Amino acid sequence: MCGIIGYIGKKQALPILVNGLRRLEYRGYDSAGVAISDGKKVARVRAMGKIDELANKLKPMTISGTVGIAHTRWATHGGVSEDNAHPHAACTDDLVIVHNGIIENYRELKDKFLKGHELKSQTDTEILAHLIEIFYKGNLTEAVRAALKEVRGTYGLVAMHSAEPDKLVAARLGSPLVIGVGDDEYFLASDTSPMLAHTKEVVFLDDGEIAEITPAGFKISNLNSKSVDKVSSKIDWDEASAQKQGFPHFMLKEIFDQPAVFMDAIRGRYNLAEGTAHLGGLNMTIEQMHKIRRVILLACGTASYASLVGKYAMERLAGIPTEVDVASEFRYRDPIIDHHTLVFGISQSGETADTLAALREAKRKGAYVRGIVNVIGSTMARETDGGTYMHAGPELAVASTKAYTNMLAVLILYAIQFGRLNRLTEATGERLIAALLEIPEKMKEVLALNDGIKKIAMKYKDSAGMLFLGRGVNYPVALEGSHKLKEISYIHSEAYPAGEMKHGANALLGPNFPVLAIITKNQLYEKMRSNVEEVKARYSPLILVATVGDESVSELADDIIYVPPTMELLEPLLNTIALQLFAYHSAVALGRDVDRPRNLAKSVTVE
Ligand code: AGP
Repeated sequence: MCGIIGYIGKKQALPILVNGLRRLEYRGYDSAGVAISDGKKVARVRAMGKIDELANKLKPMTISGTVGIAHTRWATHGGVSEDNAHPHAACTDDLVIVHNGIIENYRELKDKFLKGHELKSQTDTEILAHLIEIFYKGNLTEAVRAALKEVRGTYGLVAMHSAEPDKLVAARLGSPLVIGVGDDEYFLASDTSPMLAHTKEVVFLDDGEIAEITPAGFKISNLNSKSVDKVSSKIDWDEASAQKQGFPHFMLKEIFDQPAVFMDAIRGRYNLAEGTAHLGGLNMTIEQMHKIRRVILLACGTASYASLVGKYAMERLAGIPTEVDVASEFRYRDPIIDHHTLVFGISQSGETADTLAALREAKRKGAYVRGIVNVIGSTMARETDGGTYMHAGPELAVASTKAYTNMLAVLILYAIQFGRLNRLTEATGERLIAALLEIPEKMKEVLALNDGIKKIAMKYKDSAGMLFLGRGVNYPVALEGSHKLKEISYIHSEAYPAGEMKHGANALLGPNFPVLAIITKNQLYEKMRSNVEEVKARYSPLILVATVGDESVSELADDIIYVPPTMELLEPLLNTIALQLFAYHSAVALGRDVDRPRNLAKSVTVE
């Protein structure tokens, strides 16, 4: 969602901030702006639409200064307009702020404090700017602290004042902020992507912390003025991995990243000879693991479909009852949890508001709470009592692809690790791990089908709707394939467990309603085949994802995508890639903004 970048140092701030905004584009936004101090006054420029609009507006201007803040806005309070874009100023441009999050009591604050203040936008952020101005007595840090004591809601904010040109003040509650530490220069951002080009040394702010940053260093304290010591961390993501590297879209690049990053997820975490896995971040003793009676996987969107595969793996390999809960539902339904429950939050960003809230609820109720997270140092990584990084590298397309497969990798490794404590034999564990090690080569075989899948996507791109069918472990694959198609191509689609069709969805079938069915060779193959024959009998065009060598399905299919065979539990690691490519090419053929689909954000930091 909204993105923040700030700079203080010796270089000209403007190019750093505008490039930083471009790195934040992937989060989704509808307007952008920048404010720069030249030591005397603050220049503030904002524009609706893309960063290019802002850059064009800035081109004829001469804006110099080595301190500044910038923002990409995703409208929440107030529509998309230049007035509503950040940075927001108080009564004058002397005091400006950028803010992510929501000030819940903004109306009360306005009535109580803002008499005589003229508001120029409909945003909650502008009210916060005026509030800081009211408390300003020559020290911006103290003014921010005093204002925030009045605030109810969430914020990641950075403020700047023309009277203190060598200072940025940042604060965090519920919305991430990171300080990047360079040589005599500092960066502030809502995630690490805009600072990777400048530094890998970062300090993550925690909730309730305020940072005062000058070119000489930074001081962190809490709302009660108590100073806080923080250690910096190194980010091992490189700048190149956050570039398109010749691909037309981040999404396609990230789909093609999968063979390499899959190995990053499993490397050093398995023992082939003993047929087991070891994820040290779990932070549980063998005795504690033995006492786990139930696993709950909490996630949203694609991460929840990955979790459904995790459920199959955990139940089948470890025999532990496993539930998947969509985080936004879990947090409000008074879930039943005890001390023998292990809860995982699964999240690419580690910042998804609903998943974080659900995990906090689980923790309050006494569960073991762990994270499976991609973004290093994200809130979920820091709030959970252990867990595992999925090591997919920066994922910038809104549609999640490589993070999904790496979620599967980690979930399957956990299932093997728990399985080896009880019913999983060494021989089966060894077979599974050997099969996992073959996955990258097989992923490459699926990626080699790219051109063929593109042709199939072109054929069906004008469909009004589509159905995705799967059974067993391929039902979550159908869900994910359908999710991918709808989010980036805007073609309506649904996913069904194929055996459920005759209870309702069969009524949709007919010549204008294509069906994509996953019919790979596994224990449900014959069942799936009967379901597919029923679809065929009702004249729906059929695209099949089948196992290489299975010629017998060709009589049923209008189009076939042949994928290599693997062990049943691992099939989603290959089959999903075919569906990712199908969704990608459908969206490109329809001229969609593939990396930034309408109305969606990469990191959903509000409820
Ligand atoms: C994925 O393609 C989606 N954009 C979305 O469903 C996403 O998976 C969901 O918002 C969860 O995000 P997270 O993994 O960062 O928690």
